[in-house]
Amino acid sequence: NPLQPPDLSKCHPAIKGDGGDTADCCPPFSEQIDFKLPSPKEPMRTRRAAHLVDKAYIKKYEKAISLMKALPDDDPRSFKQQADVHCAYCNGAYDQVGTTTGLQIHFSWIFFPFHRYYLYFFERILGSLIDDPTFALPFWNWDSPDGMQIPAIFADPASPLYDAIRALDHLPGGSSPLVDLDWSRSAASLPPKDQWQSNRDVMYTQMVSGAKKRTLFFGAPLKAGDLADGNGQGTLERTPHGNMHIWVGDLTREYKEDMGNLYSAARDPLFYCHHGNVDRMWDLWKTLGPRRTDFTDPDWLDASFLFYDENKNLVRCKIRDSLDNKKLRTDYQTVPILWKDSKR
Ligand code: C2O
Repeated sequence: NPLQPPDLSKCHPAIKGDGGDTADCCPPFSEQIDFKLPSPKEPMRTRRAAHLVDKAYIKKYEKAISLMKALPDDDPRSFKQQADVHCAYCNGAYDQVGTTTGLQIHFSWIFFPFHRYYLYFFERILGSLIDDPTFALPFWNWDSPDGMQIPAIFADPASPLYDAIRALDHLPGGSSPLVDLDWSRSAASLPPKDQWQSNRDVMYTQMVSGAKKRTLFFGAPLKAGDLADGNGQGTLERTPHGNMHIWVGDLTREYKEDMGNLYSAARDPLFYCHHGNVDRMWDLWKTLGPRRTDFTDPDWLDASFLFYDENKNLVRCKIRDSLDNKKLRTDYQTVPILWKDSKR
């Protein structure tokens, strides 16, 4: 059977990690409605690479985030509630309906569609706050040589896109600002050219040579009642997605906030930009060869989640409605992809 959405009335404190401290990230709850695809007449929202956006866009994006941050904390559209969605779905605030098994949307085939919907609603809330139906989030183009740093728009301490709880040495201007897509704590910094070669190899392995089958790319099946297994991650979820979370977070903190822990990751505006590129990779993967298609198993297609939309409706969304970004009126700017071939 497909994974069911949580019973929001039974939300309980989330566990931050091994230290055992808890966080309260429970949302308000209300009647649910079923998700409907947006009208095909809605304008396309084209997500652009964060290092390529212009001043007018930055102003608009900053304004939208400021307005979202200014909403009262109990408004389901507020930045706090939006960030807490991630905490609740990842750190054990919900049990799967009728069980004591925690609901966890990482480490399995649930990962890509859950995060696609998450961005979809986050973006529409921002667009509605500035009354712009074309508003689209930027994506962090970490798979290109020009995107190998935290995008500048997130690194200005005066901007609402800034988050002070990050690894300072990895900020632009810090001691090791270049993105290392398979970063680990012991990794040494490389000169830009070598870092790019290494990143390129990582992308080739995770997207092309190591992801020839669905389960390799998406991760292991997870059905109703299953406990997510930390080894069930697909290639891209593990690396670079996971490594980048840890690379941005502040590892001097017990719980590696913000980006380095699932409970706090979405408090950093950079989270949604990172996930823009992750989502883009799902679309790209499907263009890279035969058999690179979505699952057809109803236990995947009918798995569902709950999100609040821009009108404060609690919406039940099934994976089957998320498969085609065009139908969600979402699109990505075309930028060069330099990692498709194995040869350097
Ligand atoms: Cu839900 Cu980047 O993780």
